[in-house]
Amino acid sequence: MIITIDGPAAAGKGTLSAHLAKTYKLAYFDTGMVYRAVGLQMVLTGENLENKQQALKIAENLTFPQMMELSHHPDFRSDIGGRAASVVSAYPEVRQALLAMQKNFALNPIFADGTPANGVIYDGRDTGTVICPNADLKLFITASAEVRAERRYKEYIAKGMDTTYEKVLEDVIARDERDSKRSAAPMKPAEDAVIIDTSYLSISDVINEITPLVEARLNQKK
Ligand code: DC
Repeated sequence: MIITIDGPAAAGKGTLSAHLAKTYKLAYFDTGMVYRAVGLQMVLTGENLENKQQALKIAENLTFPQMMELSHHPDFRSDIGGRAASVVSAYPEVRQALLAMQKNFALNPIFADGTPANGVIYDGRDTGTVICPNADLKLFITASAEVRAERRYKEYIAKGMDTTYEKVLEDVIARDERDSKRSAAPMKPAEDAVIIDTSYLSISDVINEITPLVEARLNQKK
């Protein structure tokens, strides 16, 4: 069973993925991590994010364990890591270099401890269109920029980060613009994706809407 969940930042993809992964015993790949790893590596080594060649070199050498190690850095999930990821992910060569690592994850789905999983959940921007066009179920989860900025702002404040709602909103809008207007694999719903706007929905509303879709796909596969 392969499920792809695409959509803009802070739309609720992560929470939904975690729920589905646990319920259906699916291994989870948050594909934004590959771009965050490359972006953060650029920041940590003092590279200008415009240096496409250097970003490509880092992407070509990135390994899964290295990405997991970088994920513990405090800026991996911060706006610094997010912005850097958004910039380097616009380079087609960087995307190409990180493609195999993402696609291969579905070949032998396992959990972090090495035990086998029933399938995979991919979360990202292009997982239903590029990474796994043959997925069993494709979801595109979205919400208004204001609602997403409010959610992200609350997360940052809870983590003790120093920011303002206005700054987070500006960042959300800039990232949407970059992620959806880039030439390589722009963020967009796959033609066969189910689109859900979570602006006025709670996480349990979203789960209630999606569960019958997952169950139907599982029954088809029996
Ligand atoms: O989901 P996230 O916030 O961790 O993603 C960080 C950036 O990575 C996002 O702004 C765009 C890029 N990204 C991408 O281009 N394709 C993906 N499949 C996932 C993320």
